[in-house]
Amino acid sequence: MLIKKTELIRSSEITPESVYLNRRQFMKGLVGTAALAVSGSALALPEPEFEKGVPVYPGPDWLQQQLRAGVSNAGMSTDEKIAPYRHAIRHNNFYEFGTGKGDPAKNAQNFVTDPWSVEVTGECDKPGTLALEDLIRPHQLEERIVRLRCVEAWSMVLPFVGVPLPELLKRFQPNSRAKYVEFTTLNDPKQMPGLRSVFSSLDWPYVEALRMDEAMHPLAFMAVGMYGNALPPQNGAPLRLVLPWKYGFKWVKSIVRIRFTEQMPRTTWNEAASHEYGFFANVNPAVSHPRWSQATERRLPSSLFRPNIIDTKPFNGYADEVAHLYSDMNLKKWF
Ligand code: MTE
Repeated sequence: MLIKKTELIRSSEITPESVYLNRRQFMKGLVGTAALAVSGSALALPEPEFEKGVPVYPGPDWLQQQLRAGVSNAGMSTDEKIAPYRHAIRHNNFYEFGTGKGDPAKNAQNFVTDPWSVEVTGECDKPGTLALEDLIRPHQLEERIVRLRCVEAWSMVLPFVGVPLPELLKRFQPNSRAKYVEFTTLNDPKQMPGLRSVFSSLDWPYVEALRMDEAMHPLAFMAVGMYGNALPPQNGAPLRLVLPWKYGFKWVKSIVRIRFTEQMPRTTWNEAASHEYGFFANVNPAVSHPRWSQATERRLPSSLFRPNIIDTKPFNGYADEVAHLYSDMNLKKWF
């Protein structure tokens, strides 16, 4: 895959979303040309459109500095229309903060994400517990605009900022027994009302995992930001996975532990309903969820009058990049 990195300059204090999107349209034109002479050209991340009542999340100083030095990875980005910021932070799945789409935005606002540390453990030569800053600082941040396809058949195009997952994981030197890598969300009932709910059907903490070759794929990404700022708490601050070819439930939020394992780990949604949610969870229009079709999706934002239904693509449109990882597998069985 072609990776062109261009300097990323966070825009002035207020770049209206429309300006940002127009600039993107301009970039889109460039991406289509053979020369792709974008290196060095300034590409602004948006300061989210400041609207009354729409909060922004600048994050700690060290992260602000790193965001300013970020680059745009056009080769890993789609040129589809980005979801308006206000939708991205108000339509969420983060069951630790409630099961309604608006619950995380309502209940996660006091979620403490700084300081934060991540434990890296299991089958690796350099395990350790790192402050988030130490985990992220050695890397240059990059922006990738990707499609998020939820297993519930809605989708959004989102601009994430973060670090390629392979680069991050390699630092811990996974050993030859490391066949899988597991990611665990914070488990703090005091801060997370969903964990206190008697109606919860999930076994906490939230855990999802990848095969090592999946985790080491160039599309696998660890995000620390969105729309040019830190991740909002409802979107998984301070760090979450971005796995564009997999259903959103694999995109673990607010990660506190990374563990390399020899055996396939038990994962939250697979444990909850293995006939509905497979371990691999690759986006696949040919394999229906037992209760609904996966052939199409509702691209958000949408409305009653403009439902915006589009066809779902195998591997969420990233088949050219990732299909080879599964060439010897029956994807109807290993969904
Ligand atoms: N991570 C945790 N810890 N808890 C969750 O409930 N929901 C997943 C995923 N990551 C979830 C999670 C699902 S089902 C989706 S679709 C995406 O987060 C949604 O991400 P977004 O809210 O940022 O759009």
